[in-house]
Amino acid sequence: MLASTRDLLETARRNVYAIGAFNVYNLEGVRAVVLAAEALQSPAMLQIHPSSLKFGGTPLVALCMESARESTVPIAVHLDHSTSKSAIQQALDAGMTSVMADGSPLVYSENLAFTKQMTELAHSYGAAVEAEIGRISGTEDGLSVEEKEALMTDPDQAIEFVAATKVDFLAVTIGNVHGEYKSEPRLDFPRLAQIRKNIDIPLVLHGASGLPASMISKSIELGVSKFNVNTEVRKAYVESLKRDLSSTKSRDLVDLMSDAIKDMQAVITEKLLLFGSANKAHLHQSPYAEMLALK
Ligand code: 13P
Repeated sequence: MLASTRDLLETARRNVYAIGAFNVYNLEGVRAVVLAAEALQSPAMLQIHPSSLKFGGTPLVALCMESARESTVPIAVHLDHSTSKSAIQQALDAGMTSVMADGSPLVYSENLAFTKQMTELAHSYGAAVEAEIGRISGTEDGLSVEEKEALMTDPDQAIEFVAATKVDFLAVTIGNVHGEYKSEPRLDFPRLAQIRKNIDIPLVLHGASGLPASMISKSIELGVSKFNVNTEVRKAYVESLKRDLSSTKSRDLVDLMSDAIKDMQAVITEKLLLFGSANKAHLHQSPYAEMLALK
């Protein structure tokens, strides 16, 4: 069933587990997420990055929405990292259940104004909004400790930002990075604990690929209710295709697709188990979801 993102994250937070949000690009990715979630009786999120939206357009959104509706477990559909009002409008018009209004590349006051405006818009559709203060980088390389800390979420600023924008979830920057961690990941847990103390909405951690199990569970304990995963799943897809294409056996395209789904599903399964959302599907039967499904 198509789930409300707000219900997924708030229920996860109350019951101390987290929702896995997986970036998807095509049919294989969507099937892998839904199959993994169904096999574990887990809720999950299909997440579309703006570049993937630009490439796949409304047919890709329709694929995600229909797969969520047909699924036997609660699945939300989310627009990841959008800095564009028109992409957010497109996502909301298509019935997506949440968007990330990402003003983090802007100066703080502009981020606040953008997030506030997008939150008003999304709420008028019944959808939820994730925003970010601080700035997640693609790599830790080349930054001094001071520079890294300057990009991290300021727990005091978080109070003002959440109150002024009425945003539903906050993505935190506590040392997490997108893509592969070039060295041992180091997360600033005291900072996360202070953010949790200061604000009362579900927190999101981007860059979950490559984080060890101990950091995942500590983050959940300290209030993270959604993890974004892309790199590890994408890698499983590419490796699967490479392996199949280098084999001398000639095979149908659907066989290659099935192998890719299986390999991505294995990674997603491992993440859902780490996030503690297996066997939690039954907690998410929300009337709000039915309302969205009827749109
Ligand atoms: P990874 O690619 O590091 O898993 O991060 C994904 C992400 O945060 C998408 O928003």
